[in-house]
Amino acid sequence: MPPWRTAQPVLPVVAPLSAAHAPACAAIHAASFAHGWSATDLEGLIADRGVIADGLFLGDAKRPKGFVLSRAVIDEAEILTIALDPAVRGRGFSRTLLDRHLETLRREGVARLHLEVDEANRPARRLYDRFGFVQVGRREGYYRRADGSRAAALTLSLDL
Ligand SMILES: CC(C)(COP(=O)(O)OP(=O)(O)OC[C@H]1O[C@@H](n2cnc3c(N)ncnc32)[C@H](O)[C@@H]1OP(=O)(O)O)[C@@H](O)C(=O)NCCC(=O)NCCS
Repeated sequence: MPPWRTAQPVLPVVAPLSAAHAPACAAIHAASFAHGWSATDLEGLIADRGVIADGLFLGDAKRPKGFVLSRAVIDEAEILTIALDPAVRGRGFSRTLLDRHLETLRREGVARLHLEVDEANRPARRLYDRFGFVQVGRREGYYRRADGSRAAALTLSLDL
């Protein structure tokens, strides 16, 4: 049985991703979004020097259970995506992942972080609220759902 399904505490470790993690990230992405990114797309992003890519590893597992990618330009960055394997959601691991990622961004000299979130995505909005992100804009109909309906995006920012 995987350690995160037992009563034992699991130590989440956040570490930089490498290209070898791209297939695992693609599987997590496909399970998380209506329009998944391929392993090739993700490999390219992870290898991009302007992209800061962190993975969430549980116990001594080598395969990430979550990941976050941000693109940094001078002192601003944008979260491109953040996702957890559905099997490990609801345990606060997303907070650990984002917390460590923000530390990395600060170390890289990022002063302001931006992202877009589906207005109806309650877990993600709670996560960003907890870190103090504030809404700076709204884009009507920005996301297209799998059923073809459209959803508004909120643009959020955080001073690091
Ligand atoms: C967004 C995501 C990374 C959050 O990870 P998670 O493990 O689900 O998050 P948690 O369970 O720790 O919950 C985060 C917060 O949302 C709340 N929450 C969880 N599920 C919820 C739900 N269905 N409705 C309302 N709030 C919810 C939690 O209580 C927690 O708030 P708190 O810290 O104030 O208690 C994860 O849900 C995910 O990968 N989603 C799919 C990809 C995605 O939407 N990414 C964001 C794109 S902007």
